[in-house]
Amino acid sequence: MIPGKHIPVLLSEVVDGLNLKSGSVVIDATVDGGGHAMEILKKLGQEGKLIGLDWDLSMIEKLRSELSGEGRVKLFHSNFSEMEKVAGPFRPDAILFDLGLSSLQLLASGRGFSFKSEDGLGMTFDFNQKPNAEEFIRTANVKDLEEVIRKYGEERFAGRIARAIERYRAKKRIASAKELAEVISRVVPRRGRINPATRTFQSLRIYLNHELENIEIGLTGAWKIIKPEGRIAVISYHSLEDRIIKNFFKEKAKSEEGKLINKKPIIPGREEILKNPRSRSAKLRIIEKI
Ligand SMILES: C[S@@+](CC[C@H](N)C(=O)[O-])C[C@H]1O[C@@H](n2cnc3c(N)ncnc32)[C@H](O)[C@@H]1O
Repeated sequence: MIPGKHIPVLLSEVVDGLNLKSGSVVIDATVDGGGHAMEILKKLGQEGKLIGLDWDLSMIEKLRSELSGEGRVKLFHSNFSEMEKVAGPFRPDAILFDLGLSSLQLLASGRGFSFKSEDGLGMTFDFNQKPNAEEFIRTANVKDLEEVIRKYGEERFAGRIARAIERYRAKKRIASAKELAEVISRVVPRRGRINPATRTFQSLRIYLNHELENIEIGLTGAWKIIKPEGRIAVISYHSLEDRIIKNFFKEKAKSEEGKLINKKPIIPGREEILKNPRSRSAKLRIIEKI
């Protein structure tokens, strides 16, 4: 079951920034519940096409049933690292990546993405992705746990957290995300309203889903297939991702293969953050292929 609603982030900035025209072919590499996709479709006219990818099969199935009568849309259960293969002969005019996790996934039961989740500790976008968080937390040695939490969560209490996990699991298997969040909260001081497990959860998600590698491969593939004068827009939500995107775009601009549409990342205004707190860390970068 997928309850709730996901509010698309920087919606008008993305749609305007992609420079869409009637008849454009667009790839939404992270289509999820279709928040951006629905708005993109409004700009494409009857001749346009939208190819939507998501690594989470439940998202693709949900959207397929909602858009069953929409002939302009093709949806694929795929990692965006496979984009070249999925696009086949299509050469898109625009590609969007809206990285990370959606509110729909956070609220969905059995996924283990949320601190409150009592029915699972998966944390992978694709159910078949191995190991999942439960397996990793159960089997990794304490040094590897510490390294993942430090490297991908930039968590200064990584050592303390890894040791707390080791002590706890010697007595009992950590079976849910809620249980893991409780183990962490006992050894990490609370920082304001932010949950003490935030950085650890982020690190596990990035590591288990190979998120940083996927971005590199996804951007490289997107660059190969995008048409000249086509645009790529990427929304990221933390600094490790943003650094990869910034460097990739910078290199393309330096070699005069691409033109940066915005020198500094576009970020949400106060009003958007108030309406949708999840948008607070978003950064949008756009590049045009020359
Ligand atoms: C923030 S949501 C996108 C929300 C969407 N733009 C909207 O407004 O409805 C990110 C989506 O990317 C998907 N995702 C994450 N990594 C992926 C990957 N490597 N390949 C394809 N989809 C991925 C997730 O499953 C999730 O559905």
